[in-house]
Amino acid sequence: MSDLATLEQTILGQITAAGDESTLEAVRVAALGKKGSISALLSTLGKMSPEERKTQGAAINLAKDKVTEALSQRREVLKSVALDARLANETIDVTLPLREPPVEAGRIHPLSQVMDELTTIFADMGFSIAEGPDIETDDYNFTKLNFPIGHPAREMHDTFFFNPKEDGSRLLLRTHTSPVQVRTMLSQKPPIRVICPGRTYRIDSDATHTPQFHQVEGLVIDKGSHLGHLKWILHEFCKAFFEVDHINMRFRPSFFPFTEPSLEADIQCRRDKGEIRFGEGEDWLEILGCGMVHPNVLRACGIDPDEYQGFAWGMGIDRIAMLKYGMSDLRQLFDSDVRWLNHYGFRPLEVPTLAGGLGS
Ligand code: DAH
Repeated sequence: MSDLATLEQTILGQITAAGDESTLEAVRVAALGKKGSISALLSTLGKMSPEERKTQGAAINLAKDKVTEALSQRREVLKSVALDARLANETIDVTLPLREPPVEAGRIHPLSQVMDELTTIFADMGFSIAEGPDIETDDYNFTKLNFPIGHPAREMHDTFFFNPKEDGSRLLLRTHTSPVQVRTMLSQKPPIRVICPGRTYRIDSDATHTPQFHQVEGLVIDKGSHLGHLKWILHEFCKAFFEVDHINMRFRPSFFPFTEPSLEADIQCRRDKGEIRFGEGEDWLEILGCGMVHPNVLRACGIDPDEYQGFAWGMGIDRIAMLKYGMSDLRQLFDSDVRWLNHYGFRPLEVPTLAGGLGS
């Protein structure tokens, strides 16, 4: 066999033996690269006689073509082998279970949850939400609500007052949500049906009182509204809120300057080993104050008491939240302790609805 034929066989053997594309590339460079074996043979052509060049040239070029062809065939084979290997490696098993969703961090505070629950229930009864500022005037917090200046009822509320202004008037932190009644009556024409949830403040701090707490006020003003409507609304509210089919309520006479008559409402319950059940038992729990809006209040807010009447109620949100969700210490509501929140808080996407359940 001629040298050329031997070289060609060697190179073709190396091509067949190359197991991956980089080895194959090395074979190509060694044969056809600038300093490759076949390129070296081609460069000898110049020194040959024309006769020799004719035969040798044709032979070398033939060998070069064969090598080039073998290289490209081998490259195709290696490529498809590599692709098959990747496909075998990267298959997706669609029967695998889904990955766990990311851990939901953060919880809705029970008070926010309870406010959402309240508004959901009252919205379903056709109430809208009214709001007012935490910093109020003495006039809206007291005077227009029929607390005459100097009247002892003002002392019932331990009020945070701001320093008096030059004209002697004083702003204060509202002691109840009732001034929002005044704001609503001054800005809307009856019929009125609103609830006003919000922050309230009193100088008081012990196991059952915090200086800042929450109330929800309700107000209905219309031509024919009466105590029967009020009782029905509160009864329906309590059933929906405590998520029970049956609840017993009791109304006791009371006193508030802005209502006449004034009542306090209790719900029946049984306390059993730290648990509380509603609608049965011997205990009564006071949950709210209410009554028919006093004619003086209607008059102070520009509503004619001979044409319209109405009723109102005010309820502590913190307390009903604790009752519903079994929290023992009021102060924990304000501690911002993440461990407590993880336990008592609610998942952000589980929004309370009447159909889907309030306290998920
Ligand atoms: N504002 C009262 C309080 O803070 C609660 C209240 C009682 C509100 C009777 C009312 C009501 O609207 O009619 O103690």
